[in-house]
Amino acid sequence: MFSSAKLFASVAAGTLAMVAVAVAAPATSAQPQGYYSIGMTPDAAQIAQWSIAIKPDGSNLPAGSGTVDAGATVYGAECAMCHGTFGEGVDAYPKLVGGVGALKTQKLKTVGSYWPYAPIVYDYINRAMPFFAPRSLTNDQVYAITAYILNLNGIVPDNFVADAKSLAAVKMPNRDGFNFKDPRPLTHDVACMAHCADPKALTVTSDASKSGITPRTTGPVDTMQGSPAK
Ligand code: HEC
Repeated sequence: MFSSAKLFASVAAGTLAMVAVAVAAPATSAQPQGYYSIGMTPDAAQIAQWSIAIKPDGSNLPAGSGTVDAGATVYGAECAMCHGTFGEGVDAYPKLVGGVGALKTQKLKTVGSYWPYAPIVYDYINRAMPFFAPRSLTNDQVYAITAYILNLNGIVPDNFVADAKSLAAVKMPNRDGFNFKDPRPLTHDVACMAHCADPKALTVTSDASKSGITPRTTGPVDTMQGSPAK
């Protein structure tokens, strides 16, 4: 039987031996791969497996395609139990269809009523669904399901074939409902590099201190909390 003292001694000896080897390695030898010499540098094929982000303009959409009909079949098997056969949603699971054009009154956010670009529908399904088995679908299956969901929303016709080109060309109903421009006017100013205003000529006309949104920074902590400066 191994006594714990002996076990410790042999483990310690092993550790020392490893340290000795590391120290003895000549300084000029090639470094092992990886930051801090651990891990390994991924090759292009390994990076490609993680690099799945698809932009709104459709860039990085993979090869492949899928029809509305094929999508109905895969969707029925993989998605309908939660999202309903026609995207109507089961129990509290999200509805994927409906509310198009009535976002302000119905407040029903679906792929049809809310999402501004079709390629990101592909991206979302490809990375996150089905809920219990993300990344389990083939590219063709994701294309087909995307076609089916767009068709259920009345955005594409029954004979639509989803692929990298056709998805990028789809105009979603809520494309213009998002404000991608920062609404704060100052953020649009161009930095002044020459002939700038004289700082002495500028006056501060208002600041945030009177608006009651900034907690006071002096006084005991308990009175600072919840009692904004008036
Ligand atoms: C086990 C139930 C379940 C299954 C099966 C499932 N989903 Fe989902 N799905 C969800 C849940 C829950 C969410 C909300 C996730 C969140 O908001 O983080 C969701 C969200 C979504 C959304 C985004 C809805 C929105 O507008 O925010 C889409 C699109 C979607 N699922 C598509 C699919 C597709 C396509 C399949 C089949 C390949 C699928 N889902 C299978 C549960 C499921």
